[in-house]
This record gives sequence, structure tokens and C-alpha cells, in this order.
Amino acid sequence: MDPILAVEQAWQAEAGAAPLSDPADDLARLEALRVRFLGKKGEVAALMKVLGQLSPDEKRAFGQRVNQLKDQVTAALDELRAQAEARAEQAALAAGWLDPTLPTAAAGAQVVGLPALGHKHPITRLLDTVIDHFTGLGFEVASGPEIEDTWHNFDALNIPDNHPARDVWDTFYTTRGEVPRTHTSSVQIRTMQAQRPPIRVISPGKCFRNESIDATHLAAFNQCEGLYVDRGVTLGHLKATLEGWVHRLFGPDVKIRFRPAFYPFVEPGLDLDAQCFFCGGGGHLGDGGTCPVCRGKGWLEVIPCGMVHPNVLRNCGIDPAEWSGFAFGMGFDRLVMLQHGIDDLRRLYSGRLDLVRQL
Ligand code: DAH
Repeated sequence: MDPILAVEQAWQAEAGAAPLSDPADDLARLEALRVRFLGKKGEVAALMKVLGQLSPDEKRAFGQRVNQLKDQVTAALDELRAQAEARAEQAALAAGWLDPTLPTAAAGAQVVGLPALGHKHPITRLLDTVIDHFTGLGFEVASGPEIEDTWHNFDALNIPDNHPARDVWDTFYTTRGEVPRTHTSSVQIRTMQAQRPPIRVISPGKCFRNESIDATHLAAFNQCEGLYVDRGVTLGHLKATLEGWVHRLFGPDVKIRFRPAFYPFVEPGLDLDAQCFFCGGGGHLGDGGTCPVCRGKGWLEVIPCGMVHPNVLRNCGIDPAEWSGFAFGMGFDRLVMLQHGIDDLRRLYSGRLDLVRQL
């Protein structure tokens, strides 16, 4: 028999064989075929050795046929290998260990080998909500330094040195006489120095005070300031704006009320109370027990606020005869405690996942 024809038939019998069930076995089989036919000691190489025994005319025709066979086997092997690799990939995806679209384990779930999916801390979630709410009303987010000079933190806010009001914010000082800011109200000043009205900003951030630590006080905490300055801003604007925010926070039916309060940088100064969303304002639960959220008062102190004091506007070069504004400053941690009925602020910062995972 013609030796080339013999090799060709042997190759066709092998190449036409159906794939094995396991693509990895196919890849191994194809590699064995490559060695058998195209390897250094393979069948095609053996045919080439025959060449030496042939006459020059026979050599050319024989050589051409061997080369054709070699090209044909090479191309077919490449094609079969590509098919086997594609099948291997499909099988891997079907087996599940290579599917990048599968979700990871749910929050808190204990799945061996997979990290649990985390979620945002409740304080961060409130931060997202406040930014979403107020930017929707046309407010921008402003920021200022956490280490402040006393002018921005106190004097410009109408809290002069040696005035008893400064004692309220008795706090830490750096050796250079700066304060870790005691409230975000300092950002009011920085914003009014940098921009001309109309001004609409909120400014969330960390604040620091020399507090004795207890269930409702920490030396480092979060606040969010708000400021609106324009022509003709009134207490009505303050009320409507904050009422909308309280409804977003605690529900659309919650009533609000204002009580007079003193903050040096506003006149009049007010405390906004929200009707307790937990007991509905009665101060008691269905079983007659005292409401744990408002402690029986029916109302919750939520947002200190007021109309920006003329001195504060003047300190920033804004004429109070032309412009007026309102300001508010919310204790973020307190709002989160109220939202979730948490009785001790320290729990929120304890880093204990068993608490955070419930929220
Ligand atoms: N800065 C005040 C504080 O930390 C809170 C505050 C009260 C901010 C009234 C205001 C305001 O903007 O109008 O105690």
C-alpha cells in the first residue's frame, strides 16, 4: 500500500472519532495525536525519511503530498483543539466554579470559602439620605476643615472670647490654639466668605468636644449643618424645609413644633421637635408602658435651628438689610439612634458586627 495513503487513513480514522465525554480527556487525546503524527519521531517524520530512497522525480511528487498531509493534519488538530477548549470552558461554567455573575453570600450568611457581603453603616446610610434629600431641593454639599481656627469656630458665629456662651463648647485646643471644630457651623462662615448669596448648602462631618462619655455623648461625633441665604428668606421657608426633611426621616404624618432656644448665631433660635413616631405622640405604648424612644414626653428634640443672626452675616461681608437666611445643625448620631431605637450611642461606634448587621 502507498505509505502516504496509509498514514492519511490512519489520521482520518483518529480525527473522525467522536469527542470523549470529558473535554480534558479530549485535550489529552489530541496532544497524543499530535505527537503520534507530527512529533519528531512521528508518522509524518517517518514518511520524510522515505524520501532519501526515491529518484529526483519521485521525490518532488512524494514531498509535495507529505507536506499537504502535514498541513492538513496541523490545521485539523488546531481546529479540534479549539473545539475541545471551548467545550472545557462551557463545562467549567456549567459546573459553577467559574461563573463571575453569581452573587456572593448574603450579608451575615456563613458560607464556607466565601466572604459575607457587607452593607453600609447606618450613619453612612443616613448621610446618603440627607445628601439625596437636600440636593434634591437645590442644596450643595460643602465641607470645611476639622481643625479650625477659633475665629471660624466661635467669633464669626457671634460667640466672642470671654462670652459665657463659649463655655457651652468648652473643648480641646491644639498647642497652636486651634480647635478640633466643635460643630459644623464653622462651615457656614467658610461658605459665606467664599460665595455670594443665594447660598444653599448642607455640610455633614465630624465634630469634637470635651465631653464626659455617656450613653448620649461622645468626644467625636457627626453633625450636619444646613444654611440658606437669599433675599426674603423667612421662618416660613425654614419650617417648610425642615418639615419635609422630618417627614422623609420619620414618615409623612409626623407633626412638628418649634420651641424658642438660644444659639448665639441665630435670632430667633429654635428647637424643632417631632412628634414621637414610636408611640404616636401619646408618650405611652399600647400596654400602658412609657414609650422608650421619647421617654413619655410624646415629642423628640430633633433639629436646633433659627434665622441667621445679622452679626454673622455682617462678619462674612453680607448685608443683613438685603439678605436673610436660616440655618440648622443636626446631631447625626442622635437621629440614627432615634431611627433605630438604639439606647446607647456607644453601641453605634463599638465596631460590633452583631449590632450593625441588624440595622
Ligand atoms: N452648632 C450647634 C451645636 O452644635 C447646632 C446648631 C444650632 C446649628 C442652631 C445651627 C443652628 O445652624 O441654627 O450645638
